[in-house]
Amino acid sequence: MNHCISRLIVCLPVLFAGAALAQTPPTAEDILKAWLASPHANSRSEAFRHWDTEGEIPKTCAVCHSTTGIVDYLSAPQSVPGEINHPVPVGTTVECAACHNPGAEALRDVIFPSRQVVNMPPGSAVCTVCHQGRASGNDVNNATAGIDDDEVSAKLAFINIHYAAAASTRRGSAVRGGYQYAGRSYAGRFAHVEGFETCVSCHGSHDTAVQLETCTTCHQGAADFRTIRTSPIDVLGNGDTGLGIGAVIEELHARLKAAIMTYAAEVGGGAIVYSSGAYPYFFNDINANGIADDDEAAFPNRYQSWTPRLLKAAYNYQFVAKDRGAFAHNPRYAIQLMIDSITDLAEVSSVDASGLVRP
Ligand code: HEC
Ligand code: HEC
Ligand code: HEC
Ligand code: HEC
Ligand code: HEC
Repeated sequence: MNHCISRLIVCLPVLFAGAALAQTPPTAEDILKAWLASPHANSRSEAFRHWDTEGEIPKTCAVCHSTTGIVDYLSAPQSVPGEINHPVPVGTTVECAACHNPGAEALRDVIFPSRQVVNMPPGSAVCTVCHQGRASGNDVNNATAGIDDDEVSAKLAFINIHYAAAASTRRGSAVRGGYQYAGRSYAGRFAHVEGFETCVSCHGSHDTAVQLETCTTCHQGAADFRTIRTSPIDVLGNGDTGLGIGAVIEELHARLKAAIMTYAAEVGGGAIVYSSGAYPYFFNDINANGIADDDEAAFPNRYQSWTPRLLKAAYNYQFVAKDRGAFAHNPRYAIQLMIDSITDLAEVSSVDASGLVRP
């Protein structure tokens, strides 16, 4: 971190010279303060301390969890998403150099976990390297191929998108971050509106925050992000088309969880519960009380009786759970994935999918 702060003095004039800024540019102090208060600079976070006892970050984690890792990754052509060929020492966060280095400045084509390569605009490319998740619907397809939909198989294990895969949500079907059911079409990139389509047109590039005032010029009266609504489709089928799309997504997400539990108990390998904070997230509900009790949410009790149908729905549940901005990143894609998952579970269980309207 220290080398970064001292480099601030050196690198600022260069960066400013290159930028044709319409408004008054932020001062060096503004930028430093914004970054220091951001999650990227939070050196106490688990996202940067997880490897303290080992002293080094493995090659499969280093790209997104250290400055050293991403700088090395971007210094060579990238053919594998989120991985370099060596571990790096612990002790960095997402520092200035993570986003300001020659590789990052030149970066346009970004490879996603589905191996799809997408040309990204400058205000999104470097963010996308780290905020794309670690799995795709392809992984679910490969794992479930050749197994009957409702057959419990010991070959199956939960497939985890990992955290904050905002870029995969935004690009939708173009990068297949979610599990997409056969025979259905899915929304591609959420274009939103000109001027608010890259990561840093909504998020501050240094504080990472989204300012509600920048949204309410168009979304007038919105009290918070989750109350924003433009879509006229009655997704929940309850006649309320004024409910914020974020709230609609939360409601669907809760219904998907209930559907997963119903199917697992009735058709799948037995009662299942979800715990958002315990790896690997899905556990046996031993006492069948519908709650992930402390003694249940432990690795030895992880759910191991997956059927393909259950795994697909659980994958999509987690895809939406781990991107808390999904409603703004690509609401249609998130809704399609969840409605299709609920509908698929309803085919063979008492899950009720009636009334839902797919956008
Ligand atoms: C493609 C990028 C990427 C890769 C590769 C990656 N991560 Fe992450 N990980 C993230 C992001 C982004 C977050 C932060 C999400 C947030 O807090 O919003 C995160 C968060 C975490 C956290 C913090 C969770 C918490 O409770 O706050 C842990 C632990 C973690 N990752 C472990 C790993 C491990 C272990 C590996 C390697 C096996 C790995 N990650 C590989 C992107 C990645
Ligand atoms: C997470 C990535 C990221 C980190 C970390 C980061 N920057 Fe930036 N920075 C950007 C992006 C993206 C832009 C371009 C902003 C735009 O186009 O609106 C930018 C722009 C700038 C600019 C041009 C002025 C502006 O705001 O547009 C300066 C100067 C700058 N950064 C300095 C720094 C310094 C110094 C640090 C560390 C204290 C830092 N940056 C950390 C991503 C980052
Ligand atoms: C080198 C990898 C990396 C890059 C590049 C990166 N991020 Fe992050 N980002 C992370 C990690 C890791 C965290 C979690 C930090 C923590 O837990 O304190 C994070 C956290 C965040 C958060 C907060 C999430 C939360 O849980 O509240 C936002 C928002 C964010 N990043 C947006 C961006 C944007 C926008 C860009 C591009 C300008 C960007 N990130 C570039 C790795 C990265
Ligand atoms: C249309 C505006 C918009 C765009 C474009 C956008 N975001 Fe977001 N993002 C949001 C909003 C709104 C939230 C929710 C913020 C909140 O709850 O405070 C959010 C949340 C997030 C979070 C936190 C998610 C979590 O799990 O906590 C991350 C990380 C993030 N965005 C990264 C990105 C990245 C990377 C990009 C570009 C690929 C991007 N965003 C593009 C509006 C946007
Ligand atoms: C210049 C006008 C404008 C601004 C500013 C704007 N938006 Fe939008 N927003 C739109 C339009 C137009 C749509 C409809 C796009 C579509 O459905 O294709 C939309 C749709 C949305 C949706 C989806 C709503 C739904 O019902 O599906 C969300 C969420 C959203 N915007 C969030 C934001 C956030 C967050 C910001 C601020 C960072 C923002 N918008 C700023 C014009 C704007």
